[in-house]
Amino acid sequence: MLPLREKDKPIIRKLLSAGCCARCILRFCCVSVQAAYRQPQEQTLEELQAFIVDEENGKCQDCAATESTGTNDKSHDAALSETSEDPPSKRAKLEPSVSATKSEEDSAALVKQKDEESRLCVVCLGILQELCGTIQVIKIAEAVKAEKYEFDSLVLSLSLPAQLCVREHSCWLHVKEEVRAKGLVLDKDDVIQVKEAFKWIMQGQVAKELGGVAVVTKSAFEVGVEFTHPETDTDCHFLATTCPDCFKPTKNKQSVFTRMAVVKALEKISDARFLKHYPCPPTQPTSSCTPQDIQCLHVSVFIAGRYNKFCRSLPQTPWVIDGERRMESSVEELIAAPILSTFRADGFNFSSSGREDVDVRTLGNGRPFAMELLNPHRCRFSTAEIKQLQETINKSSDKIRVRDLQIVTREAMSRMKEGEEEKTKSYTALIWTQKPVQREDITFIDDIKDLTLDQKTPLRVLHRRALAVRQRVIHSMNTRYVDPHHFYLGLKTQAGTYIKEFVHGDFGRTKPNLCQLLKTDTDILELDVESVDVDWPPAIPE
Ligand SMILES: *[C@@H]1O[C@H](CO)[C@@H](O)[C@H](O)[C@H]1NC(C)=O
Ligand SMILES: *[C@@H]1O[C@H](CO)[C@@H](O)[C@H](O)[C@H]1NC(C)=O
Ligand SMILES: [Zn+2]
Repeated sequence: MLPLREKDKPIIRKLLSAGCCARCILRFCCVSVQAAYRQPQEQTLEELQAFIVDEENGKCQDCAATESTGTNDKSHDAALSETSEDPPSKRAKLEPSVSATKSEEDSAALVKQKDEESRLCVVCLGILQELCGTIQVIKIAEAVKAEKYEFDSLVLSLSLPAQLCVREHSCWLHVKEEVRAKGLVLDKDDVIQVKEAFKWIMQGQVAKELGGVAVVTKSAFEVGVEFTHPETDTDCHFLATTCPDCFKPTKNKQSVFTRMAVVKALEKISDARFLKHYPCPPTQPTSSCTPQDIQCLHVSVFIAGRYNKFCRSLPQTPWVIDGERRMESSVEELIAAPILSTFRADGFNFSSSGREDVDVRTLGNGRPFAMELLNPHRCRFSTAEIKQLQETINKSSDKIRVRDLQIVTREAMSRMKEGEEEKTKSYTALIWTQKPVQREDITFIDDIKDLTLDQKTPLRVLHRRALAVRQRVIHSMNTRYVDPHHFYLGLKTQAGTYIKEFVHGDFGRTKPNLCQLLKTDTDILELDVESVDVDWPPAIPE
């Protein structure tokens, strides 16, 4: 039995004749019992029809005898839905207890009922009719299965044509008059949304079809069901003249008539103005909504670690100049390839704690990095499996190695970037001096502590960094003599110090510089990062 109240009757009658489907009528009656939506819509329709006829019986008991029974088919149509001049014989037919012999009137009523059953709903455009049945359930389940996602639960998300809001509003105004006249308390916000009803009907069935997975309201795995209805797309267009401000073109949207914009415009428009521009109730559509392809999306998973780079001809990210690739690979691609295939992700977003130049090696414990994996189809891994993945990366190339590989949260990832400038980095540079130097000529460098540099943005990075003078500190240095023209210089610096520029001076743009300190031209032949002192991600014991 449907949980309907006496006061719902005028609304039901009105919506039925307006061409609303049975479930949309339940919505407008604010029925929030989910089971009511799950039962077959034909049954709901029958119950609704019986419910309103019932009332007519009660009301017209006295007048029934005097009423003409000779109504034609046309008035029948109206009778079922909105008049109270119903002939008694037909009313009897709708009572389950009465098994009357089939009269002409009965079959006329049946035709009428069939008609209401097969009629496309003017509000939901078929979504709560044929578009939330077994066919759709199977389609959704097949889409999920086809992509072989691994997940605990899923959330159904529904994207509806924006004009549904316009039609909903029109129908609301249609019953609003009735509501007012009868002094009923009903607010537009109390109306159950199409989305909600759709989910109530579908969730359980989808869960069953997928072998019992939980279909919930919040999940990392989203299955997107989208409907469009090109036939009525123009329904929204009048709103652009009533509220031009609501419809501003945006970059990535195909149409300005987004659901949000339409809702906003509908909040602003007066009832009178709406009724002037739009039919109330809405017109009958000729076709139902078109289901689009099911879109599955798993939220990003984040993975972090540290990498070593052993090669002096490997950029950190793909090196492309004027659309042409300059180096065949990159650190991020070498690391990403095995990870992407393991997580079966669609793409990635790589970030690291600073970066090294193409000709600089990163030794020691390596440089912290983190990757966002987009739409991963698999995301649960044991510690052993992650270790296995790390080994796969290690073995895939001699140029890089990875350690401390681990799955992290999005929030944890920001730890890598925060306070980056305050962190220290250690380097070893192979220095060439123009003038020959003796062992004792360079030892004074070992005693220099906390040397503050003024670094103008290096010429080589001016194309991507703003011109500025940045102060950076070299905390300490040490030297290892090689021969009269070469020595190794170890440096411990504040992150963000440009080492190459400190050595050759960058035409005086970095001051002081090594040329000034040694009173000869110096250049840097090799540079290695020895350590990046960021305590994230946490070290993983071997
Ligand atoms: C990649 O990360 C950056 C910075 O965290 C972010 O702005 C960008 O939107 C991300 N890109 C994708 C495709 O997620
Ligand atoms: C990968 O290489 C790094 C750096 O040499 C090493 O620390 C780590 O243990 C290796 N991991 C595996 C699983 O091979
Ligand atoms: Zn409907």
